[in-house]
Amino acid sequence: MINKELQYQNLLSQIESLIDKRCEWVANYANVSAAIQQAFNHWWCGFYMVNKNNQLELGPFQGPVACTLIDFNKGVCGTAWAKRETIIVPNVHEFEGHIACSSESNSEIVVPIIKNNQVIGVLDIDSQYFNQFDDIDKYYLEAIVKIL
Ligand code: SME
Repeated sequence: MINKELQYQNLLSQIESLIDKRCEWVANYANVSAAIQQAFNHWWCGFYMVNKNNQLELGPFQGPVACTLIDFNKGVCGTAWAKRETIIVPNVHEFEGHIACSSESNSEIVVPIIKNNQVIGVLDIDSQYFNQFDDIDKYYLEAIVKIL
């Protein structure tokens, strides 16, 4: 097993060269979800974006089908949006209000995407393992969403 930091450093440089600013957001976000998934093979990895009704709406993702709309301050995603900070949940079954899109998911990390001081969406990653995410994931995933 390659060291996680090294994996993230490789992933970050891959993503830096993948991002094509000539494209609409959807192409880049789709490729970023695929690159993260290929690197780590998590249960689910993708984006929810703030829509015009001020809800999080399912965006590009990799993995099983997921819930489409999440309200502000609801679930882990809506809480990361409201708090404007990354949330790591070691055991989703203990997170009050967790929205279970899949019974296979046991831990989760959600990173808000902030542009011009506004949360425009979140990056959400779910794992079938408990305690999967730590400060290394937080550090690199925050770096990844900054270059989107
Ligand atoms: N578990 C998330 C919902 C999205 S799915 O995990 C893909 C939440 O509680 O916000």
